[in-house]
Amino acid sequence: MGNKIIIAIDGHSSTGKSTVARRLAKELGYVYVDTGAMYRSVTLYAMQKDLIDKEHFDSHTLIQVLSEIQIRFEINKDSGRNEVVLNGKNVEREIRSLEVSSFVSQVAAISEVRTKLVEQQQEMGEEKGIVMDGRDIGTVVFPKAELKLFMTATAKDRAERRYKELVDRGDKVTYEEVLKNVVDRDHIDSTRKDSPLKKAEDAIVIDNSNLTLEGQFEKIFEIVNNAVK
Ligand code: DC
Repeated sequence: MGNKIIIAIDGHSSTGKSTVARRLAKELGYVYVDTGAMYRSVTLYAMQKDLIDKEHFDSHTLIQVLSEIQIRFEINKDSGRNEVVLNGKNVEREIRSLEVSSFVSQVAAISEVRTKLVEQQQEMGEEKGIVMDGRDIGTVVFPKAELKLFMTATAKDRAERRYKELVDRGDKVTYEEVLKNVVDRDHIDSTRKDSPLKKAEDAIVIDNSNLTLEGQFEKIFEIVNNAVK
């Protein structure tokens, strides 16, 4: 179907970016890359090495050991989904905990971390035919992407969605702490110096606060079909 393009999807936490990106990639036969999973993997590594906890963050040492961190994706044969592998171990489940979520924005604010991951992301897009989601894909990673979407929804809607996901997988969390995490991450992600979350000028905004999943897909497919023609 048409020429292969790059689709960049940015937006606030828990706006359903990955659901949209994954489904688009499937429909188009494209590769899906979840860049949040890459920042979460670096965060998990920092936690494993005791470089970050509630009281401290040794960003200096993390920068020094960055070359020890290898991140790649592998397809889960059962679900067909791309899952993240940190230094040879599949960490797809571990990186989704609220604990990782509570530290990831601090780690993602470090320029050296961003430089490393952005380079890897740009390599993944060299052949196009890719849907990538994150915070800086349309602004920094692929400023020339043929299609850019910027997804948003109210913090309350997003926290409800995230809370349900965490409870469904058996995590013991409260709605209040999930809401706080969503609001805190929005703040850190949007105000950091390096590559803050912001809408690219040419991005199309999708506010899905009042859209059903199907309504949202219909709208997005129309936009994408026009872009790949
Ligand atoms: O999409 P996510 O919630 O899994 O992302 C986790 C964190 O990683 C998010 O709070 C900010 C950071 N991130 C980023 O800074 N740049 C990206 N391209 C993707 C994620």
